[in-house]
Amino acid sequence: ISLKRGGGGCLKNARFWGDVAKDFFWKTKHTGQFLDYNFDVTKGEIFVKCMEGASTNISYNLLDRNVHERKLGDKVAFYWEGNEPGDELTVTYRELLQRVCQFANVLKSQGVKKGDRVSIYMPMVVELVVAMLACARIGAVHSIVRRSLPSSLFLPLIRSDGFYRGDKLINLKLLADEALQKCRDKGFPIEKCIMLKHLSKEAEETSLGSQSPPAKRSCPDLQVPWNPEVDLCWHALVRGASDECEPEWCGSEDPLFILYTSGSTGKPKGVLHTVSGYMLYTAATFKLVFDYQLDDVYWCTADIGWITGHSYITYGPLANGATSVLFEGLPTYPDVSRMWEIVDKYHVTKFYTAPTAIRLLMKYGSEPVQKYKRESLKVLGTVGEPINPEAWQWYYNVVGERRCPIVDTFWQTETGGHVLTPLPAATPMKPGSATFPFFGVVPAILNESGEELEGPSEGYLVFKQPWPGVMRTVYGNHQRFETTYFKKFPGYYVTGDGCRRDKDGYYWITGRIDDMLNVSGHLLSTAEVESALVEHEAVAEAAVVGRPHPVKGESLYCFVTLADGVTYNRTLEAELKKQVREKIGAIATPDYIQNAPALPKTRSGKIMRRVLRKIACDERDLGDISTLADSSVVEQLFQNRCCTAV
Ligand code: WT7
Repeated sequence: ISLKRGGGGCLKNARFWGDVAKDFFWKTKHTGQFLDYNFDVTKGEIFVKCMEGASTNISYNLLDRNVHERKLGDKVAFYWEGNEPGDELTVTYRELLQRVCQFANVLKSQGVKKGDRVSIYMPMVVELVVAMLACARIGAVHSIVRRSLPSSLFLPLIRSDGFYRGDKLINLKLLADEALQKCRDKGFPIEKCIMLKHLSKEAEETSLGSQSPPAKRSCPDLQVPWNPEVDLCWHALVRGASDECEPEWCGSEDPLFILYTSGSTGKPKGVLHTVSGYMLYTAATFKLVFDYQLDDVYWCTADIGWITGHSYITYGPLANGATSVLFEGLPTYPDVSRMWEIVDKYHVTKFYTAPTAIRLLMKYGSEPVQKYKRESLKVLGTVGEPINPEAWQWYYNVVGERRCPIVDTFWQTETGGHVLTPLPAATPMKPGSATFPFFGVVPAILNESGEELEGPSEGYLVFKQPWPGVMRTVYGNHQRFETTYFKKFPGYYVTGDGCRRDKDGYYWITGRIDDMLNVSGHLLSTAEVESALVEHEAVAEAAVVGRPHPVKGESLYCFVTLADGVTYNRTLEAELKKQVREKIGAIATPDYIQNAPALPKTRSGKIMRRVLRKIACDERDLGDISTLADSSVVEQLFQNRCCTAV
């Protein structure tokens, strides 16, 4: 390792990443600088380019290279573990390569070309990885959806019929049909829909070859409407497709995928990542942060629909030829020992999860954990939000039995991969601190006037130079990219997080400093939830704040002012909840809704969220409220607080 952490001489940086690049296959070599960029809005357009001029294919590097050059064809890529215990499936690198080629041919036969956007709406099944990599193989750009479909134009949509989450049946086809209708209404026709039958008998015959069982809870009566003009069956298409497909050679800076994330203005942003830099960055961080070894069995519990799954279930692990567990279910189904049962079943060595899952399981004590041995575990990872010391200690003492280092990885959808993180067993840990920057990452802490603070200090967390995996733009809106991340402090990438550096140089994330909430490790903007609420005809105005939650980190406390003549009741409450769920996703379901005949505002009409936060938490010490226009509003809201979640 030739680069100092937090060090960033451009030459050294190029040498370090150049070494990483040597492991990969390049159809043509890069011509320009290894990493070229401008982070300063006052000097022109913001850009980052990595290995310009080189061409490669990420699916070739993840699959063909591992099968043919590294002779890992028979190595297991995924142990798929279904929602129902006993539903399982093993996929080797060679099989994965064949399936990806087959599906790439299917996409081509449907007219998908390099640069086309393909939307994917599927549960945690191997076919989801197949769909992603098939897009990457032909140079198409995938966009995985886990909420309402963004209205940007997508050519085909790949989806599945449905799946079980614990006891609950989710009918994805119906959800997708509704979303599609909305796209059509807005004038964005979706040309084709390919549907995977995950829950019915048909899945048995095809999906992943003869050894593939259908989901045990197969569900012959899951009724899905079928429109022969747009709907195509995955299984029928794949049956006739060749399992060889020459990869499309892509430029380094060609788009790889778009992933929508919450924006503080309320409108989701399409975060765009490109081929080469993202490949190098996810591969290198995966290898070093989890101290990956060839015989490891790695398990990341995230959903592939979030960036954690993109980078650390699909791309990073496969780039290294790793064997992973891919889990469809929930940590609590059929019981709260499920995670540890899976750890023992597959001899998981490296385990990656979120503080919210740790806190959830912590509630049930150590007994369900100790029912299983967990002897195989070596490294435990966490991501998504600051981990509270109590959860850290439980993870370390009970789950890891004080034997496994914890890697607290700080990063964002935008950063593509870990940016602040310990290296296991090499970095002395401090519970709750993401410790130090990854190689080539140069953080700084700024005060309100944009001055860099030295030594122990607290302020805005920013980065001074790019690393290969940083996002390149907001899809379709480069200006929004510049405004969101580079305008506030010219010369720096602004994370939106507050941060403290202690006397030993450790970084401690203190949380978001914009109007974002972190619910179970997922960011949500208050503005986005508010606009979903006011879209309901009964609501005149809404304000949403976070209220601390023992498991989720933060929960959503919504204040709604109703339109004239409307009365508040349980039916309306249920409708509002449903409205937000449908607009944004299950993660955004309001926990509390309070009828607020009026909201506390300043004389200039700005909603005083600070005061609402106090009301939500029942904290009477309001601080300075001299700018409040009408203080009786506050008393009224305190009296009608919601004490129990809706
Ligand atoms: C935000 C990014 C990166 C995948 C999951 C979330 C918070 C994330 C940590 C951590 C403290 C963390 C930050 C960040 N965050 N990891 N280890 N310690 N805070 O991705 O939805 O893009 O959210 O999650 O606030 O900005 P995301």
